[in-house]
Amino acid sequence: MEITKYPEHLAIIMDGNGRWAKKQGLLRALGHEKGAQSVRQVLEYCVEHHIPYLTLYAFSTENWNRPQDEVSTLMKLFLKYIKNERKNMMKNKIRFFVSGRKNNVPEKLQKEIEKLEEETKNNDKITLNIAFNYGSRAEIVDAVNRIIKDGKENITEEDFSKYLYNDFPDPDLLIRTSGEMRISNFLLWQIAYSELYITDTLWPDFDEKEIDKAIESYNQRDRRFGGVKNV
Ligand code: IPE
Ligand code: IPE
Ligand code: MG
Repeated sequence: MEITKYPEHLAIIMDGNGRWAKKQGLLRALGHEKGAQSVRQVLEYCVEHHIPYLTLYAFSTENWNRPQDEVSTLMKLFLKYIKNERKNMMKNKIRFFVSGRKNNVPEKLQKEIEKLEEETKNNDKITLNIAFNYGSRAEIVDAVNRIIKDGKENITEEDFSKYLYNDFPDPDLLIRTSGEMRISNFLLWQIAYSELYITDTLWPDFDEKEIDKAIESYNQRDRRFGGVKNV
């Protein structure tokens, strides 16, 4: 099938690293490492096809409930990713941005995040938005608290959006890997009209072919936004 349109904003719930590892008889940590390679492929795809916003759900506010060694593996992996990808981000003009709460994130990691955000802030080809220590309810509550602090009353939907963690356009397409039919506290406000695509493919197996399949499905969607077709 021919692809005629690409989403402006692609969001992905990268799920299934643990199941992938289990299937191969490996430790969950290795599933997460393999998952980082899928991130590279998806990012490359977005650069190549001019998809200007990519949001990846990497660590949720609920993921702190995992065993301590897994949490620490995920923190270390993100730190490693930041260090390894710096060059590529500058070369491909990728702007790096992290959405989430800053509390509980190890200080060293938080510093590296801020450093890379600063270094890449003028890169204008694509924005890579990593949802890390992210929860959508937390984001909404944080927004409400800032609104109260500012003494605002009677705000509009547009005003409200400005208080969220970023001002990126809403995702056009939301992909979830590994077959789970749920949102897991991701972008509740922003996905009001996103097209959903859920695949059984596990995140470490998600490659260029798999993204093509998702985008092909997106090309067949009739986005009506509450209106009627062909008036
Ligand atoms: C996604 O894979 C990665 C994170 C949530 C950090 P999982 O670790 O959730 O993998 P499964 O769902 O256990 O297979
Ligand atoms: C969602 O995956 C969070 C991320 C992908 C970072 P989970 O594996 O944490 O979600 P649940 O627990 O299956 O809902
Ligand atoms: Mg999971």
